[in-house]
Amino acid sequence: MKCTVDIDSKEYEDRFLKHYDELKWLYCELYQNNMTAFEKLCYSMYDYYNKRKIELKNIDRKREKNPNWYKENQLLGMMLYVDAFAKNLSGVKEKLDYIEECGVNYIHLMPLLDTPKEKNDGGYAVSDFRKIKPNLGKMEDLEQLSEECHNRGISICLDFVMNHTSEEHEWAKRAKKGEKEYQDRYFFYDNYDIPSEFEKTVPQVFPTTAPGNFTWLSEIDKYVMTTFYPYQWDLNYRNPVVLNEMIDNVLNLINKGIDVIRIDAVPYIWKQIGTDCRNLSQVHSIVRMMRMICEIVCPGVLLLGEVVMAPDKVTPYFGTMEKPECHMLYNVTTMATTWNSVATRDVGLLKQQMDIVNSLPKECIFLNYLRCHDDIGWGLDYTWLMQFGIGEVSHKKYLNEFFTGKYPNSFARGELYNADPKSGDARLCGTTASLCGIEKALHEKNNKDLEKAICLDIMLHAYMLIQSGIPVIYSGDEIGQLNDYSYHNVAGHCEDSRYVHRGKFQWDFALKKIEKKSIQGRVFSGIKNIAEIRKQFSVFSSNADVWTIHTGNKSVLGIVRANKNEKLIALFNFSEYDKTVCIDEDDVEYIELISKIKVQTNKINIPAYGVYWLLKK
Ligand code: GLC
Repeated sequence: MKCTVDIDSKEYEDRFLKHYDELKWLYCELYQNNMTAFEKLCYSMYDYYNKRKIELKNIDRKREKNPNWYKENQLLGMMLYVDAFAKNLSGVKEKLDYIEECGVNYIHLMPLLDTPKEKNDGGYAVSDFRKIKPNLGKMEDLEQLSEECHNRGISICLDFVMNHTSEEHEWAKRAKKGEKEYQDRYFFYDNYDIPSEFEKTVPQVFPTTAPGNFTWLSEIDKYVMTTFYPYQWDLNYRNPVVLNEMIDNVLNLINKGIDVIRIDAVPYIWKQIGTDCRNLSQVHSIVRMMRMICEIVCPGVLLLGEVVMAPDKVTPYFGTMEKPECHMLYNVTTMATTWNSVATRDVGLLKQQMDIVNSLPKECIFLNYLRCHDDIGWGLDYTWLMQFGIGEVSHKKYLNEFFTGKYPNSFARGELYNADPKSGDARLCGTTASLCGIEKALHEKNNKDLEKAICLDIMLHAYMLIQSGIPVIYSGDEIGQLNDYSYHNVAGHCEDSRYVHRGKFQWDFALKKIEKKSIQGRVFSGIKNIAEIRKQFSVFSSNADVWTIHTGNKSVLGIVRANKNEKLIALFNFSEYDKTVCIDEDDVEYIELISKIKVQTNKINIPAYGVYWLLKK
């Protein structure tokens, strides 16, 4: 049966026909040939295309002509909570000059849709996908902000929390009232028989703060599936109504002027008894359908998958060349491995991790970051570490002790997250500055240590910026903002240590960035300088060849980037001692881009926590 949507736009028709067969195939496979539901989806897609503003359609057309627009070295991102940064959406609009001053042209606004006041998981428990949280503003404010951002060449990324809704969402409320139609949008069970089957194979996301994957609802005597917090009810994507309605929700959001959609917790969206309910093949079918739907309705929009998993689970979300899924994914293993090198002063594992990433096709674009609003999980390559006798349990214990300042001579000030007393496992929270030692050095008034901490902070940002893809700074890190312990006294937050690194942006400290010798001034100008250099040389584009080199020193990481015109050798010293390295290169002269000094490559002295970006003259 052919789809009966009456299309009178040539542009739309071309895009639609390009993907029609595959879209229909995947949909019918997932939903047992339910053509009525498929037709509904097709009507609604066309409807959202028709409702799309001409300005946004023009952006789509421009990006369709240059589909590599996000793969160059021009994007620099920042993630921020709207209220922590500028109170509300119009506040963010007023602060766009600051964003530009940072060199940032991509902002990820953390979840801003309506949620219950307390039980909201930092915005990830949405109670209304069509409404902005009243304290942040209205949909019109988001549209105005997006317009202004687009005028300034800034792209906006927004979360799409598709795995679950809040228990206060209209569907959940009606399900609680006993309406079967709405119960069918979630996973409801009369007794613990099926849940107990699931529990045999499904791991726990929040073992301490929200143990188990089901919640008992005493008001209706039923269990509901809750992979995350008990107030976040998992949606049942076996029901085509759920997929159709959620696609409507995301297209509605996209039409407000969103450039990048971060698909939150995407590996979890399909459930199957007897599996771990992560990364199932149906998840990939849905992501592939989302990619095609965007290419048809709003081809300028990018999909960023939140896949915080081991590398072999992450890369499949890029899909294939013929059937791409996400445009971008988080470089999560590199992020965690970076911190491992900070604690161990050993770059061996980081070099190995970079080799894996560098061997992927250049189409695989990663979002690079040092930390985000979530915890840092120690998902390292323990098989590799084991060859040196480093075991997973003891190493995680070491990392956690180091980063919480318990290890002798540790400079870091982090907090544990979801420490599981049974397994001894735990993850980590903290701002970049606090993890780098700025907090401790300030507290102890130790200028020597402070100097080192600032160098480490800047070196890590330089390392993030050397990687191919899109570097994203967490708002506040650009001025060395410290942990914020006030969450301990806030109801709804005190149990969740991720709030330690989600503090309010400190505008009074930001003012100090013009004082050259202040911490804010040093960190700000340090990061800004390297971010500007990154934009100036094409060798930083994702097209460049990238490989690691041996530096002869276990604490110094060496990376080469090269394209037709330029060659750059980057060196990062992960130790608090000065190091000398020899690079197996002809004895040529290089210019160090950050300090502008000339360097011979046969013998290079690299200071403690120093970074060199050496460009071949
Ligand atoms: C994602 C978010 C995280 C949230 C979880 C549940 O992982 O990044 O903050 O807790 O999804 O929605």
